Amino acid sequence: MQDKRILVVYYSRTGTTKNISKIIGEKLSCSIEEIYDVKNRDGLMGFLKGGREGLKKNITVIKPIKKDPSMFNLIIIGTPVWASHLSPAIRTYINENHLKFKNVAFFYTQKGSASNKVFDDMRELIGKSPVATLKIDGKDFKDENYINKINEFTNEIFTNINEV
Ligand SMILES: Cc1cc2nc3c(=O)[nH]c(=O)nc-3n(C[C@H](O)[C@H](O)[C@H](O)COP(=O)(O)O)c2cc1C
Repeated sequence: MQDKRILVVYYSRTGTTKNISKIIGEKLSCSIEEIYDVKNRDGLMGFLKGGREGLKKNITVIKPIKKDPSMFNLIIIGTPVWASHLSPAIRTYINENHLKFKNVAFFYTQKGSASNKVFDDMRELIGKSPVATLKIDGKDFKDENYINKINEFTNEIFTNINEV
């Protein structure tokens, strides 16, 4: 992958995925696009409905995107885990744009322990295997292991960029 145009795309309800995206973006010196869910996701009702919608694999309405994914060689997609599934906002972004993705990498943030379902789902929706993946959970923040994990992830991406 000699072409180094990289875009980090993420949705974040409470800022965790946003913070990780910013660090990845800085490490890779690349563009970032935040996805905004038009539905109100605030408070307990937002949480409960969000969980139900994540589980049912619902899509939502997202604000128009600013960056055309076909202009990038690698799209790094980040989502919080909702009820062991993708957030509806990122599911919607993938549904609407996946035909424009050349290469992909995935990451998620979650409170609990790791699940493979999210990446399997992303792989299936997009029809491509990721060049790298990153899972960050609550424990990684306690012992600051998230920094090491992000380094491994970005190194893997660098390796792939130079090899392919
Ligand atoms: C609707 C909803 C459902 C969630 N479901 C899960 C879950 O199934 N497993 C888990 O470990 N964390 C779950 N979480 C916690 C989030 O994945 C976690 O806090 C994430 O880092 C939040 O990212 P954000 O701050 O970018 O929104 C859920 C959070 C929300 C709002």
